[in-house]
Amino acid sequence: MSLKEKINPSKLPQHIAIIMDGNGRWAKQKGQERIFGHENGVISVRETVEAAAEVGVKYLTLYAFSTENWNRPQEEVIALMQLLVHTISAETATLNKNNIRLQAIGDLQSLPADCYAELNEAIDQTKNNTRTTLVLALSYSSRWEITNAVRQIALHLENKTLLAKDIDENTITANLCTSSMPEPELMIRTSGEHRISNFLLWQLAYSELYFTDKLWPDFRKEDFYEAIIDYQNRERRFGKTSEQLIS
Ligand code: FPP
Repeated sequence: MSLKEKINPSKLPQHIAIIMDGNGRWAKQKGQERIFGHENGVISVRETVEAAAEVGVKYLTLYAFSTENWNRPQEEVIALMQLLVHTISAETATLNKNNIRLQAIGDLQSLPADCYAELNEAIDQTKNNTRTTLVLALSYSSRWEITNAVRQIALHLENKTLLAKDIDENTITANLCTSSMPEPELMIRTSGEHRISNFLLWQLAYSELYFTDKLWPDFRKEDFYEAIIDYQNRERRFGKTSEQLIS
């Protein structure tokens, strides 16, 4: 029985989020520049998106560029942005062929103009696709997102379109970039690091976390399936006892 066949379709996570980590170390191990790792990371992105669509995962969010990544050496930032623009435009036709919708979360206005334009174009061209939504987190950090949400809520208070007593968890959720998406049930991080690194802090409150030592450019479909199977063997209690879940 293949790993893919071992996946229980009735317990499939609707949303999987991934911190794609280890590109730099992968390149270094091969005596190459860091960008070589990012270039090979694109192959893993393609494999993972394909795998998600094949098994029927509805949302796949990939942490492609964090707010903190702007502090990397300028040449790496430029090369990474070029790679993103190039990949996004090169893959739009394939996304459409496979009925995959592209969306993005983050401070998108801070992206270089060409990157922002290509991204919007791809988002627009794939907007009617329904099989799987691929969400790229770009210039994203959770603290940025939550700060932004607080600012929007404060504006509602100022305009008297919202009363402080009416603020609840739904108010916060509705003002995040992910307001139209279900929360990820599973978060995967590669490269052996056990951190959330400012990624979807609010949305991951009840997510199962899965860590693998594989470096991102080595991550393949089988690794994705393995993470889903691991998730399916866990008991999600949401603060309840095991007995309460059975009854
Ligand atoms: C982390 O590895 C990876 C990134 C910051 C970039 C991820 C980008 C890609 C895989 C390329 C394109 C993506 C898309 C969606 C088209 P790292 O550089 O932090 O690795 P290290 O921890 O080993 O240094």
